[in-house]
Amino acid sequence: MQRTDSARSTRYDLASNDYLGLGAHPVVRTGAINALCIAGAGASASRVASGTWEIHRELENALCSYTGRSQALVFSSGYTANLGVLGALGGPGSLFLLDAHAHASLLDGAKLSGADWHSFEHNNLDAAEQLLRANRDAPAPKPRVVLVLESLYSVLGDAAPLEQAAALCAEYGAVLLVDEAHSLATVPGGSAVRAAGLEQAGHVLATATLSKALGAQGGAVLLGGDDAELWREHLLNTARTFIFDTALAPAAAGAALAALSLATGERIAQLAANTRLIRDTLSAEPRLAGRIEASAGPVQSVRMNTPAQAAAAAALLRDRGYAVNCFRPPSVPDGVSRLRLTAHAHHHPDTLAAALRSVIGAILEVEA
Ligand SMILES: Cc1ncc(COP(=O)(O)O)c(C=O)c1O
Repeated sequence: MQRTDSARSTRYDLASNDYLGLGAHPVVRTGAINALCIAGAGASASRVASGTWEIHRELENALCSYTGRSQALVFSSGYTANLGVLGALGGPGSLFLLDAHAHASLLDGAKLSGADWHSFEHNNLDAAEQLLRANRDAPAPKPRVVLVLESLYSVLGDAAPLEQAAALCAEYGAVLLVDEAHSLATVPGGSAVRAAGLEQAGHVLATATLSKALGAQGGAVLLGGDDAELWREHLLNTARTFIFDTALAPAAAGAALAALSLATGERIAQLAANTRLIRDTLSAEPRLAGRIEASAGPVQSVRMNTPAQAAAAAALLRDRGYAVNCFRPPSVPDGVSRLRLTAHAHHHPDTLAAALRSVIGAILEVEA
């Protein structure tokens, strides 16, 4: 059920995806206001009708500079970016291979695309290769195969082996689609695809959301290599969530553009330091031993014994002024209940340490 939570903004934030704390930054607010004043409250039409504003092009150029890619196309959300790109790659001649922990938007995109699709065990590229080989050796192989991964997975916070996945796709003539929702502006260099040296790999497509580390709203497809312009053209002409959806709101585009200028290496390093503090503090508590997931980014999860205990700990923390997410079945990929904490660059280590003592206290209290 959807609830309005009036105390939300006063709680200590260990729950939101605003990893760099930019959503409320004055420069980001000003970016939104300026775009709003120029273009109005909404984009007023689809990008392919009269809905393309200068701010969309500026944002696409800035996303390319930030990620080292050559072409970008912004969508109204990360969800529609995933639906759009998978739809444009789909059809009866396509086969999609999805990691079992891939986000719902990737799964929905695969289902809607008209392609055949299979999911394979989380982060198991041997299992992915078996499916690639089976298609290659089939009497009528699908000519277009797309391997679909997230750079950083949103529940466990672990990373995909991008370099190996890109090499595997190159070997089998497949496309690699990487959802950078949780890695854009959170990993060193600002992009996991770039950190893996794949920013100009033509067979590696990426999507991203502007609603997490950039604190705004919207999504993007990011392309590199010699055919980047052709890929962009193909998306312009075939991605249904680009063509038949009102363009990204100018204020959101203005906010994301301003946020990109603030998503510096220094802020990302502060985020990494606070991520380490969360992991080290929780791991040092003997009664939580072995229950802290081995994450690679700002998402830190603690496995809980039951869904009820996970919900009770999150509720206790909410009453004490801390916002922590509770993930439990059916919205988790593996049936495990978790408290999910997200790190934020702007938290002072002392206040964060105090918040973590409260988190540990609440968990032990509900399990006593
Ligand atoms: C991995 C992943 N992809 C896509 C999305 C969708 O992004 P948006 O919220 O911008 O629609 C999310 C956000 O929930 C996500 O976690």
